[in-house]
Amino acid sequence: MDVIETIMTRRSIRTFTGEPISEEQLNTLLKVAFQAPSASNHQPWHFVVVRDSQMLSAIAAAHRYARMLRKAGCGIVVCGDKELQKMTGFLVEECSAAIENMLLAAHGIGLGAVWCGLYPSVQLSAPIIKLLNLPENIIPVGLVVVGRKAEENPFENRYNPERIHHETW
Ligand SMILES: Cc1cc2nc3c(=O)[nH]c(=O)nc-3n(C[C@H](O)[C@H](O)[C@H](O)COP(=O)(O)O)c2cc1C
Repeated sequence: MDVIETIMTRRSIRTFTGEPISEEQLNTLLKVAFQAPSASNHQPWHFVVVRDSQMLSAIAAAHRYARMLRKAGCGIVVCGDKELQKMTGFLVEECSAAIENMLLAAHGIGLGAVWCGLYPSVQLSAPIIKLLNLPENIIPVGLVVVGRKAEENPFENRYNPERIHHETW
């Protein structure tokens, strides 16, 4: 798929067939995540891949907006390392760029995916930190739920010229 078409047609997918994604597909998602831009090229991320059914169920039970994780069969928790990027704002932006790369690649290779928020919600992050045994210096920024899609979401035109300001506000 052409890159512009991929960006324009990506939508969140929350209904999955239950079939697992392949190792090759998973590796593609991880490779594109590592290619994200980061301030001073610090690359302050870690990725926790979760496919164990008990762990998927535990995360889905703890995150009320990620219930679809069980059926999707794969969750990638994108984490920022505070020791590699001391400015939390940048850390979150950098991990978000990695997340978006994964969402676009998932769509481009025919998978369905949805970004489930973690940072800055303590309520959503705390159980994940505990379940995944994350060290003190690690912030879970977001959870990418990915799987074989059982729904299509149509293109939605969000272009809004009123929000574009030329030269000054
Ligand atoms: C920071 C962030 C957190 C999100 N958290 C969730 C979530 O917890 N559960 C969910 O189903 N969707 C979540 N979404 C997906 C949004 O609901 C979705 O991107 C938005 O409705 C636009 O739809 P689209 O992705 O199909 O373009 C999140 C998106 C972002 C960027």
